[in-house]
Amino acid sequence: MPITPNLIERAVFRLNLAPALMLDFLGAESFQALVAAHRLGVFEALDGGALTAVQTASRIEADERGTTLLLEALEALGYVHKKKDGRYASSTTSAKWLPLLGDGIGWFGLMVERLHDLDECVRRGGPTTDAREWLEQIPDGWREFQAGMVALARMTADEIVAKVRLPATARRLLDVGGGHGLYSIKFCRRYPQLSATVFDLPEAMEVARESVAAEDMGHCVSVRAGDFWMDDLGNGYDVALLFNIIHANLPDKNMELLGKVASALSPGGLVVILDQLAGQVFGGTARAVAALMSLNLFNLAGGQAYRFEEVIGWLSSAGFAKPRRIGLRKAPGMSLILGTKAGSGPPA
Ligand SMILES: C[S@@+](CC[C@H](N)C(=O)[O-])C[C@H]1O[C@@H](n2cnc3c(N)ncnc32)[C@H](O)[C@@H]1O
Repeated sequence: MPITPNLIERAVFRLNLAPALMLDFLGAESFQALVAAHRLGVFEALDGGALTAVQTASRIEADERGTTLLLEALEALGYVHKKKDGRYASSTTSAKWLPLLGDGIGWFGLMVERLHDLDECVRRGGPTTDAREWLEQIPDGWREFQAGMVALARMTADEIVAKVRLPATARRLLDVGGGHGLYSIKFCRRYPQLSATVFDLPEAMEVARESVAAEDMGHCVSVRAGDFWMDDLGNGYDVALLFNIIHANLPDKNMELLGKVASALSPGGLVVILDQLAGQVFGGTARAVAALMSLNLFNLAGGQAYRFEEVIGWLSSAGFAKPRRIGLRKAPGMSLILGTKAGSGPPA
């Protein structure tokens, strides 16, 4: 929960009478408190009802003083509230958002840990270690990664599926780097005539298979293990999703990938990109998402957030026409970019 200065504190910062940068330091500490609470299972412990600090410590099998201090910090941040009788309960904000985003906290924590040598990354012009190798040496790293992606997808998938209108003729969808497969599942639910292929690295397949089975969507969502740089993506698709993919690559690689996606689509086929966009972004949060995620992606994978104009340039080079951008209310700083493969498809 962001630290929200009161009216007087805000005035003090605005007048530059106190160093507002301390809020960033506190923000970093706050996030670590949240990650610790997540790893210790504090919120699950409180799910069953309010607990004292001693009861919480016993439930999560942790030190009493440490748990008390952690709960006090979470209370100051608004993640829990303290009742008059001294027991702690999840706040209404936690109760609303943690069921959606909670599984992703482990991954967000790992991303922050990876920023530990950002200065070196900036100095040398790219990540200090390969993202895939880094992920592989973390216990359950791939699972944490997918959990982070699922958490974000849960926030936005319904809005995306509502805003991206597929033609009635669309039958086959290719989810490039589709990971967990949640977007494919949602599109297939909305369009019963559609079948989807989630294409991703073999390491990502386990979670994708589990989501498809858990959602009972095996009849229309299949998974295909492969490497989109090395392998053919197939052909005859009506729709291709590139969700959170282009931000990990350099421009020439994105042009290469969009060329492969164009080959996989039938004439008139639709490519849908989801990503953070740099440039003209309005609103403090949206600007921070674009700028900080850009830096984060540079550090993580050597990529960045790109401007809309750059993306439509790549789309046009790959043979896509009618580029359009759709903003997302539930994901400030993120946008959808759509393009249609030149050549006429079947009538909608
Ligand atoms: C940031 S995640 C996005 C997952 C999903 N599309 C979403 O938006 O939630 C990027 C995905 O691309 C996959 N990926 C990265 N490089 C790939 C490659 N060379 N071939 C296939 N998939 C790849 C990763 O395994 C991961 O699942």
